[in-house]
Amino acid sequence: MNFSDQPAARPGPIPAVNNRYLAHEESLVRELAKSADAGDTARRKIRDLAASLVHAVREGQKKEGGIDAFLQQYDLSSEEGVLLMCIAEALLRIPDADTADRLIADKITSARWKDHLGTSDSLFVNASTWGLMLTGRLLTLDDKVQSNPAQVLGKLASRAGEPVVRGAMKQAMRIMGHQFVMGRTIDEALTRAKKKENRAYRYSFDMLGEAALTARDANRYFEAYYSAIGEIGDSNDDADIFSAPSISVKLSALHPRYQFTQRERVTSELVPRVAELADYAKQCGIALTVDAEEADRLELSLEIFDAVMRDARLAGYDGFGLAVQTYQRRASDVFQFLIDLATETGRRIPVRLVKGAYWDTEIKRAQEQGLASYPVFTRKEYTDVSYLACARQALAAGDALYPQFATHNAHTLASVLHFAGSRRDYEFQRLHGMGEELYAEVIHRDKLDRPCRVYAPVGSHEDLLPYLVRRLLENGANTSFVNRIVDESIDVADIVTDPIEMARERDFRPHPRIPAPSELFAPERRNSAGINLPDRNVSMSLLAAMQAAMKKDFVAHPIVNGRARDGEAVPSVNPADTSEIVGLCRQSRPEYVDEALSAAVKGQRAWNRVAAHERAAVLIRASDLLEEHTPELLALCVAEAGKIVADIVPELREAVDFLRYYARQATELFGEPVLLPGPTGERNSLALRGRGVFVCISPWNFPLAIFTGQVAAALAAGNAVLAKPAEQTPLVAFRVVELLLEAGVPEDVLHFLPG
Ligand code: FAD
Ligand code: 2OP
Repeated sequence: MNFSDQPAARPGPIPAVNNRYLAHEESLVRELAKSADAGDTARRKIRDLAASLVHAVREGQKKEGGIDAFLQQYDLSSEEGVLLMCIAEALLRIPDADTADRLIADKITSARWKDHLGTSDSLFVNASTWGLMLTGRLLTLDDKVQSNPAQVLGKLASRAGEPVVRGAMKQAMRIMGHQFVMGRTIDEALTRAKKKENRAYRYSFDMLGEAALTARDANRYFEAYYSAIGEIGDSNDDADIFSAPSISVKLSALHPRYQFTQRERVTSELVPRVAELADYAKQCGIALTVDAEEADRLELSLEIFDAVMRDARLAGYDGFGLAVQTYQRRASDVFQFLIDLATETGRRIPVRLVKGAYWDTEIKRAQEQGLASYPVFTRKEYTDVSYLACARQALAAGDALYPQFATHNAHTLASVLHFAGSRRDYEFQRLHGMGEELYAEVIHRDKLDRPCRVYAPVGSHEDLLPYLVRRLLENGANTSFVNRIVDESIDVADIVTDPIEMARERDFRPHPRIPAPSELFAPERRNSAGINLPDRNVSMSLLAAMQAAMKKDFVAHPIVNGRARDGEAVPSVNPADTSEIVGLCRQSRPEYVDEALSAAVKGQRAWNRVAAHERAAVLIRASDLLEEHTPELLALCVAEAGKIVADIVPELREAVDFLRYYARQATELFGEPVLLPGPTGERNSLALRGRGVFVCISPWNFPLAIFTGQVAAALAAGNAVLAKPAEQTPLVAFRVVELLLEAGVPEDVLHFLPG
């Protein structure tokens, strides 16, 4: 079997950026803090400027009292805030009304919406609370009801069923959507941008839509971007590419398989599409920025960006730009990559510095995948420090980059102002619906007077939800600057604390409550080790090791009482190409079963007497052996079960987790008698013991995980096992049995009977 046809196996220009994909957080932050630090005096001046901005913003907000107050009221430390997120997310995913209603019924009644009523002066908070509690009808309640809402609450709540609440949730989402969306169509957004109060800003329009699932969706988004570019170009009378309006695009909207496993296809299909959009933007005299999305897409996005930059049609165009997330540990390497690319192509690259909008997703994914560490920082102040270091790096790059500092944080903003000194060749950016008061100061204050661009989403309700969820997360997080600034109980000095100082106080250590993914289940058990496949450095060496592991003849045979047995040799074939023989499997004969059974009956009695922690130690050893043989087991599963590498890695991890999980269960439940928690405080010693001999027959679709799981559970509990794998996948199962025996499972306890 040849694995070199896997897209990830092909060498390309990018991997150097990946060297710090999951870098050691402490040493990296230490290094970044040094580059970010402009000295004590500078840091004091920055804090003073930030504090004066915060005072001004708070004054402005007293007059407004809008959505910020709402989001602060429902921040994610409240049950209701979390609930709102759950429901927004659910509405996004659940296709049918019945299921959505059941979820709402489950969730909505548990929250204490009433607690939020009247706790804010903002009419918006109260109106929205009513909307969320009831029908959306209450958004139009008259003054009498608003002034004594508790009276009518009971009556209306009992009348409002789930469909009504669902309507209310949608209504509330629509209200919030309105806050964050510039217009339903590009026309509407362009008109709004030209209104007097908006004219002071530059704009980057974003046609809402992302994560296309079908080619039709991707085409629709492409058309939307294309025609928007034309319309923005038509409305533009600014000859300077840096101050002209621009468009922001998400690559995940433009291709249904924008993921690392599809690298070959994505680069060949997406590069021409992006180049066509960029070329059209060039002709229309506007800039085009590629948004930053999830960390596992970074390398792919850089590869696409690199290829499009080198498209001859874009010669002389300084408008093709990229967003870079500074919460990623690779951020400063990405900057270096862009500086080199700009120098090589002789062009200027507009770079938007953002902290990153997918933090929660990145943390969860790394945990779910059992990675060695996280691709992002675990403390907010480290992301801030990284932002400052990257800001200095971008400014120091001179004509190579046109830095665009996207932030709503007064301290970050003040730092940039300080770093840039009298320079004017950069801009700030904010999101539509956020940071108005802060930037009112920046664009109007005599001494500051720096340009700011608004990122302006355009689109309908259907395409809004993922974007909206990110904004709710950002506004609702109690670490967010936008959340803290509206909370009058927090002192200004605490809002503008210096992230470098905070990082030093933390000794640059990772957040103690965000353990490394490998430590997720500590102290109970070690998590299985994941493999960071999107890192091409990693996937290329894994594929080479898999290739090497397949260079032997695989023969499986029955094992009874530890002895290999003969039998008819049947080829095991690759289901993706049945002419390819992966190996041979000798079939069991009926007498082997009888022999195995009587040996197992005897073996089980002794195994059941072995102390539970010793049985557990054997299983743990087996789990380590499985991990040591990762390339071979993966290669066998690909060859014999027709699985793809991205699917088989989680399966191997599941097998390893089963072994460690059951080992732990064995010591907890089958060890010395312990008092189980519960009203009667029962003792477990009598109930929990081995039961005898188990026959484990496993299916072909999870040849590694289900096979291992069944066997491990039985063994952990003090049973003996006769293991019969699926006919289609005996080679994988054979290796697992060999490793279990090597780990110390007694020969008369585990028998292998393929056939
Ligand atoms: P702050 O409150 O100072 O920072 C909040 C940020 O800190 C969070 O968003 C997160 O990045 C980080 N953070 C929070 N908690 C932690 C933690 N425990 N550990 C480490 N880091 C943490 N985002 C994208 O991902 N891609 C884009 O293309 C993109 N485009 C944008 C364009 C514009 C014009 C703007 C203004 C924002 C854009 N964003 C994008 C969103 C951006 O990432 C968030 O708005 C930004 O992170 C908020 O930063 P802040 O300085 O305003 O706020
Ligand atoms: C997002 O879509 C603004 O690109 C950023 O969240």
